[in-house]
Amino acid sequence: MEWTERWAETTARVEANLDRLYAKNREPQKRLFESMRYSLLAGGKRLRPFLVYEFCRVCGGSDTQADCAAMAVEMIHTYSLIHDDLPCMDNDDLRRGKPTNHKVFGEAAAVLAGDGLLTDAFFVLTQSELPAEAKAELVKTLSYRAGPYGMVGGQVLDMEAETRACTRSEVLAIQKRKTGALIRAACEMGVICAGGSSEQRSAAGAYADAVGLAFQIRDDVLDAEGDAAVLGKAVGVDENKNTFLKLYGPDYCKRKVRTLTRQAIAALTGFENADALANLASYLATRDR
Ligand code: IPE
Ligand code: IPE
Ligand code: MG
Ligand code: MG
Ligand code: MG
Repeated sequence: MEWTERWAETTARVEANLDRLYAKNREPQKRLFESMRYSLLAGGKRLRPFLVYEFCRVCGGSDTQADCAAMAVEMIHTYSLIHDDLPCMDNDDLRRGKPTNHKVFGEAAAVLAGDGLLTDAFFVLTQSELPAEAKAELVKTLSYRAGPYGMVGGQVLDMEAETRACTRSEVLAIQKRKTGALIRAACEMGVICAGGSSEQRSAAGAYADAVGLAFQIRDDVLDAEGDAAVLGKAVGVDENKNTFLKLYGPDYCKRKVRTLTRQAIAALTGFENADALANLASYLATRDR
């Protein structure tokens, strides 16, 4: 199977699971579920679920073992996008090719849709058939990487940095947290779902750190050079943000992304059948969406 077919397969799988999640509920807070589903099922690359499924597979696990973790990480990611787009944060109107959540449902409802996805992600993790220790480790990993030590911390640093210049190490600290941390959670969770070794988990972490930084640098380059119609979100919105692009310009960024991609691929040497993960890293370096 071509690696892109595998990505399509995992995307279809996680989307079907996410679609089923709220489809049958009879709760009176219908509008909340509608707003959660609006963003959750709006498309998106489903990169983080792909990472969960692939790291689980290269550690000898099945897709069934990875299902709940793949859903949970995409629920957290989607909540982070809903909140990131709010007027009090990046104030964006377009996401995944559609009007942002708050444009359709209003600001308070968008905050609550994010809250709902964030909280329910952990409930979903508890619903897997994995051993209790694996479930506890998944909860620990996702909450640590997505919370104040990770993604939420990075979003705070990102906002605080808007009004001043940053050094290289400050930009690294922001990007490692706001984007890198959840990507790292996805890779580590794949290993956990499969019951992988601590060596495999460290290697997944090294891959994730390189891919995560490259991913945000590419995101910032696309914000300057990309096409909104292809990206599904507006461009030029982050031009005042503290990024590698602002510090060093586009040529440096493209070189840096290439170096990080080589590092990511090198981290995979201990895994058999990790071609899809290597191809993914290469693809992400020059992605246009
Ligand atoms: C966008 O993430 C936010 C960043 C962390 C840069 P993605 O580029 O993965 O967004 P979707 O999921 O494809 O919409
Ligand atoms: C978003 O970074 C990171 C998170 C949502 C945690 P950006 O603000 O650059 O993402 P986009 O460009 O809006 O997707
Ligand atoms: Mg932002
Ligand atoms: Mg943004
Ligand atoms: Mg951006």
